[in-house]
Amino acid sequence: MDRLIYFDNGATTYPKPPGVSEAVKQCIDTVGGNPGRGSHPLAVSASELIYACRESVGRMFGCEPEGVVFTYSATHALNMAIKGLVKRGDHVLISGMSHNAVFRPVFALAERGEITFDIYPHRPFADDAEILSGIRRLIRPETALVISCHMSNICSDTEPVEKIGALCRKRGIRFVVDGAQSGGHLPIDVNKMNITALCLPGHKGLFGIQGIGVLACGKDFPTENCKTIIEGGSGIHSLDPGMPEFLPERLEAGTPGTPAIAGLLAGLDWVRRVGINEIHRRCSALSSYFCDALSDFSDCTVYGKGDGGVVSFNIDGFSPSEVGAYLSERGICVRTGYHCAPLAHKSVGSFEAGSVRVSFSWWNRLNEVDRLLEVMKKL
Ligand code: ALA
Repeated sequence: MDRLIYFDNGATTYPKPPGVSEAVKQCIDTVGGNPGRGSHPLAVSASELIYACRESVGRMFGCEPEGVVFTYSATHALNMAIKGLVKRGDHVLISGMSHNAVFRPVFALAERGEITFDIYPHRPFADDAEILSGIRRLIRPETALVISCHMSNICSDTEPVEKIGALCRKRGIRFVVDGAQSGGHLPIDVNKMNITALCLPGHKGLFGIQGIGVLACGKDFPTENCKTIIEGGSGIHSLDPGMPEFLPERLEAGTPGTPAIAGLLAGLDWVRRVGINEIHRRCSALSSYFCDALSDFSDCTVYGKGDGGVVSFNIDGFSPSEVGAYLSERGICVRTGYHCAPLAHKSVGSFEAGSVRVSFSWWNRLNEVDRLLEVMKKL
């Protein structure tokens, strides 16, 4: 089989930029200690590395380094934000494009009778005004939290987070953003956009390795009132029975994944060097080229805009998994089915069977898209 063509960057980016795996190895080989758990040189160098990564995340996403909490994934960050910020009786609004990382924690809280929730509509191609008026219509006096899906993981459609943030601020509502697909693709400024908590994976658009996520907290993050979902050692205030009342320690119990944080730091450096706008421009150009070519296939349906690096489609007469298996046998890696986002598939009209998803990264090239189209034509 020829070299594999990887179009599953929505699941995790591959390959990683030069310097990422080296940074992970160097951390294991030379940094070595447990950060914040000792004053010997190896523990101190681990603490310094982690602080450098907090500063780097803070610089890229417009928040204080102390507001940067490391988690093991975006799902972990979303669970911490959602379960930490709501109280019994609250009402929560989530997007029609939500991933299960948002829907399931909210559904679990509702099942336990702790909260109620509504789903604000996000039709494909909806403009900002339509999304905002859908949110406004559903806000109630007890609405305490809005959770936006910044960029859909099935079709790239985006939400106007700056405008939703302004609306939330005006109404005194906390605002959580799922940046799983937008982190590293679209500019995000937590404090300027009135975001209470931004949740990011380290291993997608930020080009770190799996096992690291970020909860970036804005200046209105209610640290002392945020419930913790994991408690344990924080390296400081060990005699207190409760978790520290300040960030990031309040939300970081247990030994952090220092080697993965080292990889994230190298990934962020690379993203900064290439530039978020340049990365997004390249992914969008590949998407547009692919979508234009798909419009010549009479038996192909494309869902949503697909203009930001993630394209979902179906081919008449074939299930998504049949198409995925056919491509996979020819060395082309895509993801098929529901992409852990059944609500989004309902919103774009592909709920019956899900879709075939092609998701690009900065490393993909036009000749790889041409190869995909050539293989699809034979199907
Ligand atoms: N949420 C990831 C995806 O969209 C895993 O594939």
